[in-house]
Amino acid sequence: MSALCRTALVAALAVGAFTVGATGMPAQSAGNPARGRQVYERYCIQCHGARADGAGEVARWSQPKPRDFRQGVFKFSSTPYGFLPTTADLERVIQNGLYGTRMPPFAALSTRERRDVIAYLQSLSERWRTEGPGTPIAVTEEPAPTRESVTQGRELFEANCAKCHGDGTGNGPSAVKGLVDDWGSPITPANLMLGRGKWAHTARDIYIRAMGGINGTPMPESTGSLTPEQVWQIAHYVQALGAWSGSTRELRQLAAGLPRPSAVLP
Ligand code: HEC
Ligand code: HEC
Repeated sequence: MSALCRTALVAALAVGAFTVGATGMPAQSAGNPARGRQVYERYCIQCHGARADGAGEVARWSQPKPRDFRQGVFKFSSTPYGFLPTTADLERVIQNGLYGTRMPPFAALSTRERRDVIAYLQSLSERWRTEGPGTPIAVTEEPAPTRESVTQGRELFEANCAKCHGDGTGNGPSAVKGLVDDWGSPITPANLMLGRGKWAHTARDIYIRAMGGINGTPMPESTGSLTPEQVWQIAHYVQALGAWSGSTRELRQLAAGLPRPSAVLP
């Protein structure tokens, strides 16, 4: 290649890179997808499958099924409903696993291996070529829970969450009728009494889930319909249902001693 030609190529690449940044298009993992494929073939293929369709050997013993990566749909993103997750969101899932499912924590992978496998996952769906990740949901400063706010949280839970989560155990009327996820499998609302979700640990996590919903499942987003203050009230009420990280005995006693919610009063 002549020097002139090379200069033109470098310039074209620079323009290309600039355009990508300027239009806010895919800000993908800095990892190497070819190396990531090797990580995938070693540690992920038995569940997520050779075709990344979630149909690996272990899939038949897995409920829910391992994720099919071809649609680019991810449940536990910090971004609003319908948006792609950030690289940090994918890192969190790979690092911590999904509690109570077959998805194991891969804390022993090096940072480079995690980045590489994420870059590989991001090559598996067309979505990553045409869309960037969403902007993470803004989380306002967490207020301290009070008797009033938790009482309010309980009312809001009845109005917004109970049709699926019921009394907190996941026995709401919609759950009893039967819910199905986007991949066609039955899915049950989380038992919030367990004090831990697949992904959520803290009030902040509950806040993000309540705001953003869970992609690929019937759990809706609340952005628009609830204020940040109301979402904190719900998050603290949920935290008071079980031994979530940050939940205190006082908080649980407070919630247990509340009068029955007005929604179910005659
Ligand atoms: C033993 C089975 C198993 C192995 C091995 C496994 N996974 Fe998973 N993975 C699952 C299951 C099951 C789910 C779906 C959980 C759910 O939908 O609740 C999942 C979901 C995921 C998700 C989706 C998270 C979201 O927010 O929707 C990602 C990303 C993921 N796995 C990455 C990986 C990577 C990377 C590896 C290898 C380093 C891997 N998994 C290995 C079983 C596995
Ligand atoms: C239409 C039904 C529906 C409604 C309404 C609903 N959820 Fe859910 N929720 C679900 C389902 C289904 C899951 C399980 C998703 C999964 O396991 O992949 C879930 C899971 C959760 C989880 C666990 C997340 C994790 O890390 O595993 C939390 C927390 C949660 N919901 C909170 C709420 C709150 C708070 C509200 C009200 C603002 C609410 N949900 C409204 C259906 C619903």
